[in-house]
Amino acid sequence: MLKTTLLNAVQAGAVQLKHFFNGKFKISSKEGINNLVTEADHAAEKAIIEVIQNDFPSHFILSEETGEIKTSSEYKWIIDPIDGTVNFANGIPLCCVSVGLEKEGKMILGAVYNPLMDELFFAQSGFGASLNDKKITVSNKTEVIKSCLVTGFPYTYLDAPNGPLQIFEKLIRKGIPVRRLGSAAIDLCWVAAGRFDGFYEHNLQAWDSAAGFLIVQEAGGIVTDFKGMAYSPYQPHILATNGKIHEELLGIVNGSVVN
Ligand code: IPD
Ligand code: CA
Ligand code: CA
Repeated sequence: MLKTTLLNAVQAGAVQLKHFFNGKFKISSKEGINNLVTEADHAAEKAIIEVIQNDFPSHFILSEETGEIKTSSEYKWIIDPIDGTVNFANGIPLCCVSVGLEKEGKMILGAVYNPLMDELFFAQSGFGASLNDKKITVSNKTEVIKSCLVTGFPYTYLDAPNGPLQIFEKLIRKGIPVRRLGSAAIDLCWVAAGRFDGFYEHNLQAWDSAAGFLIVQEAGGIVTDFKGMAYSPYQPHILATNGKIHEELLGIVNGSVVN
């Protein structure tokens, strides 16, 4: 039942995403320049929350645009109605609906759906990860120098010491390909599917990473913070890899590798 609700919820959000994509919609700015929210984000969020509340009215909800709908439930749904809103607003088909479910503080289900590529990533704790119902696993690369990485840049925070630009420069100077797709949830899923060997990003929110974390973990990867501590949706710095390059990339990301 929880899985059905999750899949119905991401589908309901995706209907809105597809409906507005490349069409006309209102865009407004949140804090910072180019941190956008569109009419489609609100419509998708409403549709997702309706599905969940219809099936589980007592569950706790944390959703990007609405914030917290607090209850005393052990279940918490963590929702990003559109991850990759800047892509969405520009007609770039790299955006998705991301919904994760936490039970007693542990992620137990996650789904990330990009309806524009018709790619549905799903994971259930202990049962592996899938893309459109086919099992996925992380890549086998063992060296950062031979890896293909992906990152994202926060709307602010760029000038922090050992911040996003410095790490990016370090990797690019080594000749390592580092992509920037513009959707943290898709970045994580593409690590899970073995398309990327690693992903790191500063300053993410719980809704950016919750579902994607479980999908990477269930595909055999590792997700930590920049100190190597176990993943929590409530800490902002995320490093996700195939596991085999984790220690090496961690050293680069946390600044212990100087060059
Ligand atoms: C953003 C995307 C982007 C990341 C930003 C996030 P949004 O989420 O995940 O890849 O770099 O930090 O805020 O605003 O499109 O939901
Ligand atoms: Ca997001
Ligand atoms: Ca969003």
